[in-house]
Amino acid sequence: MNEAPRLIALVPCAGSGARAGAQRPKQYQPLAGRMLVQHTLAALAAVGRISRVLVVVAPDDATLDAQPGVEAAHCGGATRAESVFNGLVHLRASGAADTEWVLVHDAARCLVTPALVDALIDACLESDEGGLLALPLPDTLKVVQGGRAVRTMARDGKWLAQTPQMFRLGHLHAALQAHAAGGFAGITDEASAMELAGCQPLLVRGGALNLKVTYPEDFAVAQALLLARQQ
Ligand code: C5P
Repeated sequence: MNEAPRLIALVPCAGSGARAGAQRPKQYQPLAGRMLVQHTLAALAAVGRISRVLVVVAPDDATLDAQPGVEAAHCGGATRAESVFNGLVHLRASGAADTEWVLVHDAARCLVTPALVDALIDACLESDEGGLLALPLPDTLKVVQGGRAVRTMARDGKWLAQTPQMFRLGHLHAALQAHAAGGFAGITDEASAMELAGCQPLLVRGGALNLKVTYPEDFAVAQALLLARQQ
């Protein structure tokens, strides 16, 4: 009997976090008793079906080298897409099969829950299609020029992409490789590369709390929620 393909988590963790305004990269900021990324890794570790967790860090970054249950790959790139692509190359070189599923999850989304990840895995395995967590846009969307609203876009049919985003290793590697020569221009998440490759990723409803810590004020929100969950 064939074995079911494995599920691998790939966590891009090589950003500088310039928008967060902190001295250290945001993923290493202390938050509710440990580094931000350690909360992210703990949530992924609690998903029993994930058999391997690869964190993609900058080449000179040893912060997560001794993190239990986690493998650090020192191949982070200049953009998120490049870090993810390099991580996929690392997985293939270390023997992972193209049929295995990869769940790409931002290090900076430390509020993800095992239940959300499980919902994505269930939907993708059941339909045998790649997909992502996402949320319908809650606010009115403005097109802005020079600090002024010039147009309002229809909100219908527009969703905010979150992570994890789950695809077969071989499909995602090929979709991203097509943009490597162009410096991954316009590829802001895995689904965008898959869409340009002709796929239509499945949208699975994520959660409003699965936010990506980005701006200085996000740290306080994330910390309050993490502390509340620890009670
Ligand atoms: O900057 P942003 O918040 O969009 O980054 C999303 C995730 O991608 C973060 O976890 C960040 O560490 C990671 N990243 C990366 N390599 C880069 C830029 C961002 O791994 N060059």
